[in-house]
Amino acid sequence: MLFDERPKENKGDLFDREKEIEEIMNNINRPLILITGVRRIGKTSILKVVLNELKIPHFIIDCRNLPPNYSKGNLYSLFSNAISSKLSTFLEILSKIRGISILGNSIELKWKGKEYVTLSDLFDHLNEKRIIIGIDEAQKLRGPLSKEIKDSIAHAYDYDRNLTFILTGSEVGLLHEFLGIENSESPLYGRYYHEITLERFDKDKSELFLRKGFEELRLNVDENVIHGIIEMFDGIPGWLALAGNQFSNNRDLKRVKNIAINVALNEINNLIEMKNNVSPVVARRYRTVMRCIARGTNSWSKIVNCIQKEEGSTISTSVLDNILNNLKKLSIIDENYEFLDPIYKEASILL
Ligand SMILES: Nc1ncnc2c1ncn2[C@@H]1O[C@H](COP(=O)(O)OP(=O)(O)OP(=O)(O)O)[C@@H](O)[C@H]1O
Ligand SMILES: [Mg+2]
Repeated sequence: MLFDERPKENKGDLFDREKEIEEIMNNINRPLILITGVRRIGKTSILKVVLNELKIPHFIIDCRNLPPNYSKGNLYSLFSNAISSKLSTFLEILSKIRGISILGNSIELKWKGKEYVTLSDLFDHLNEKRIIIGIDEAQKLRGPLSKEIKDSIAHAYDYDRNLTFILTGSEVGLLHEFLGIENSESPLYGRYYHEITLERFDKDKSELFLRKGFEELRLNVDENVIHGIIEMFDGIPGWLALAGNQFSNNRDLKRVKNIAINVALNEINNLIEMKNNVSPVVARRYRTVMRCIARGTNSWSKIVNCIQKEEGSTISTSVLDNILNNLKKLSIIDENYEFLDPIYKEASILL
């Protein structure tokens, strides 16, 4: 079902994207592949579909819920959970590794004590077979322990010819920063990666997507509805799926839009809440900057003025610089102070 809001897993459920899938397949023997693009563009779906199609043993590490200051225990449990879900595929290899215990249908990676396994050890063992390791939302691996994971990927890049890593990231600047390909201090410095950037659907493709989705639901919808949805959601497949799904429930385009805006607002508030844990002043500034930009303030000096008016206080150049750079690295705004996602823009007006 096209309007199913979970990531797609089978090629038959995925609309379009043949070219992108082919490009990944053509590069699958490279050590490191990146799938990037804004939120809801279809990164996880493409990763899953490709892995399903290839029939090469694989597992996916889902970093989405990793806390910013994750512990070694958090990191290793991501790996043990991912591998446990494919236990039968990897059982033979795993049973030979010291530091891994197999308990029923799950595994435990020991990361301290007498017998422990490092991620590099683990990759060296997995290298016995051709294996693809997916890391979804890999920029979440930034943080105090990022060195171990980067060291181990760099080690595998050089020594484990049977392994391919496919990383996805919706916060594209942060993903590049995490890898540090251009940073001489990073273990991955200078390594080549193949990056596939997913673009949004154009108007024709969006229309086809919606028509096909409504057809699957055997729902006759007005032309105005199709065009209304296209106008609102700018070809981002995840929003189109949500809109199709919601419209089929409530038949009210305005309500559909409000639901989407609320979903986005929730995500933005979560982001601001994370900043709030560091400093309430910084959190407030993010809120103000996003609100100013959402109202169409589209140059540095106009943003400074807007903040001064809103908050009744001045903001230093370096603080504003930092906030704007972060919003760019999070793929929320572009170089021209425009929101990348029209629904994020609408939601930010309400901040
Ligand atoms: N090509 C497609 N065909 C059908 N549905 C799609 C397609 N691309 C994305 N979707 C749908 O859009 C939604 C978002 O897709 P997905 O989760 O794969 O995107 P994502 O880029 O990983 O998003 P996020 O950044 O939130 O992790 C899901 O409901 C998915 O089913
Ligand atoms: Mg995803």
